[in-house]
Amino acid sequence: MNGDANGTMKGRHGEGFALVTGASGGIGAEFALQLAASGRALILVGRNRGRLESTLGALRGPRAAESLAIPMDLSEQGAASRLHAECAARGLVVDTLVNNAGSGVFGAAVDSDPQAVEAMLRLNVEALASLSALFGRDMRSRGSGDILNVGSFAGLQATPYFAAYAASKAFVLDFSLALRAELAGTGVNVSCLLPGYVRTAFDANAGIGSPAYLKFSEANSLDAATVARIGLRALARRKSWTIAGARNRFAAALFSLLPRSIPPRIMRAALERLI
Ligand SMILES: NC(=O)c1ccc[n+]([C@@H]2O[C@H](COP(=O)([O-])OP(=O)(O)OC[C@H]3O[C@@H](n4cnc5c(N)ncnc54)[C@H](OP(=O)(O)O)[C@@H]3O)[C@@H](O)[C@H]2O)c1
Repeated sequence: MNGDANGTMKGRHGEGFALVTGASGGIGAEFALQLAASGRALILVGRNRGRLESTLGALRGPRAAESLAIPMDLSEQGAASRLHAECAARGLVVDTLVNNAGSGVFGAAVDSDPQAVEAMLRLNVEALASLSALFGRDMRSRGSGDILNVGSFAGLQATPYFAAYAASKAFVLDFSLALRAELAGTGVNVSCLLPGYVRTAFDANAGIGSPAYLKFSEANSLDAATVARIGLRALARRKSWTIAGARNRFAAALFSLLPRSIPPRIMRAALERLI
């Protein structure tokens, strides 16, 4: 890495870094691989050091060698501030932020473990909002930057058995759209990606064990590389939000025509056949 007169570590081409949260697997690892291939240097964040190192080792591109991993649990109180401070202390300029890390807690809301739900909300909601604010502020003062927040199709309607997860993803879309409006004209772009089912470890990590559900999810899923590509394309085109997959766009359009109380009833009936 090269240092400028202020001691700030920037890339050879004077560009900053793309920071991807949840880069140790799934869609996040694909974001990292594709950003590296397009010439970016990466900061990879996630909890699992070994898997982050694997992603780091798989990066290919002119600035791949400048990339680094910062292992961190973003569901811990104050994690976003620590990550921002660590980047600042190392002089790493983040000009692209991909808020991808997220987790789900599956099951009836009243039967869920409150601690697991709270940890999920700290990750999906609090860390995402704080990272957007902290790095977004820096981007605004430099007059340029890109933020891609990963929501979910599930956030478009209340979703039984994924109640808190879906609500957290509704937050992601609303927050992203508001942030985008606030930052319009500052040179900072904010886009939101809404995937449907994606073939990753997400279902297993969310505690979904039903073979029927997993079969349905698999049959209706896109692969992580495709979803990452859709997200990065939306970011490059400065789209406000995009739903990944034609089938999901069609379902979202149908649901949007209905009163808000109806889709959850449809989702409940559909899910109860699968779990
Ligand atoms: N897969 C789907 O069907 C689907 C659908 C819609 C939306 N999404 C969204 O897409 C995003 C990526 O999910 P995915 O499908 O790629 O799932 P995944 O395979 O489970 O990957 C999740 C990533 O987030 C990281 N992560 C989880 N908890 C973390 C924590 N406390 N602190 C820091 N990093 C953490 C994980 O790394 P570590 O374990 O190393 O921490 C991993 O890299 C999520 O926001 C998810 O909600 C997924």
